[in-house]
Amino acid sequence: MMRTWVWALSIPFLVVGTQTPATPDKAPTPLKQGPLAYYKGHCARCHGDLGGAYPDDFTKTKSKEDLTQVIESMAAGQGGAPLTVTAELEAQVAFHYAIDQKTPFLSWTSADGNTLKGEVTPDTVVTATVAGVDQKVEILNRTWKITLPANAVISSVVVHAKTDTSEAVLDLGKSSVSHAVPTKKTAID
Ligand code: HEC
Repeated sequence: MMRTWVWALSIPFLVVGTQTPATPDKAPTPLKQGPLAYYKGHCARCHGDLGGAYPDDFTKTKSKEDLTQVIESMAAGQGGAPLTVTAELEAQVAFHYAIDQKTPFLSWTSADGNTLKGEVTPDTVVTATVAGVDQKVEILNRTWKITLPANAVISSVVVHAKTDTSEAVLDLGKSSVSHAVPTKKTAID
């Protein structure tokens, strides 16, 4: 267990000095506050459960920076719960892309001993692998839970959430959310 943590925490240092250095907020560590829970608590009353009240294509008419700014100011304003942690703001932006793309969404919110937990959008089939081997996943409401085999490495865990038409992939070696936020400066389309 200690080993997995050392591995997870060492990733930001390993990539320093490469062509595209990762920022600490991109390091795969669990989010303190899951984007689905945050959204439900602070945004859903106006924008609908899982963003059902947003207009179609609302992320496509904005750059990533503009969308991030809207979400940040909504969080501090109407939401009444500022998103001051960069990783949590980015996770909320990622969730908004998933909403607009009508794809499932997964996050990773805790590692307690061998037990990993996170969030998943409903009406999905959730599966997981650890180092490529199928792993049992428990689902309770909008939460997934995996008990890792002994000596398993967290960064080897991949969780999938599928609907009939799309799939979200959460790769704990890379990110704590399933959707990579586009890095393009221009509007996404
Ligand atoms: C009290 C109601 C209310 C709450 C709570 C609220 N919003 Fe909003 N939100 C609005 C209104 C009103 C608009 C403006 C619609 C417009 O002008 O396009 C808006 C606009 C937005 C937009 C732009 C949508 C578009 O069509 O481009 C985003 C994104 C957004 N809010 C995200 C959030 C997030 C994230 C939260 C939670 C932190 C949140 N909002 C909380 C009322 C609310």
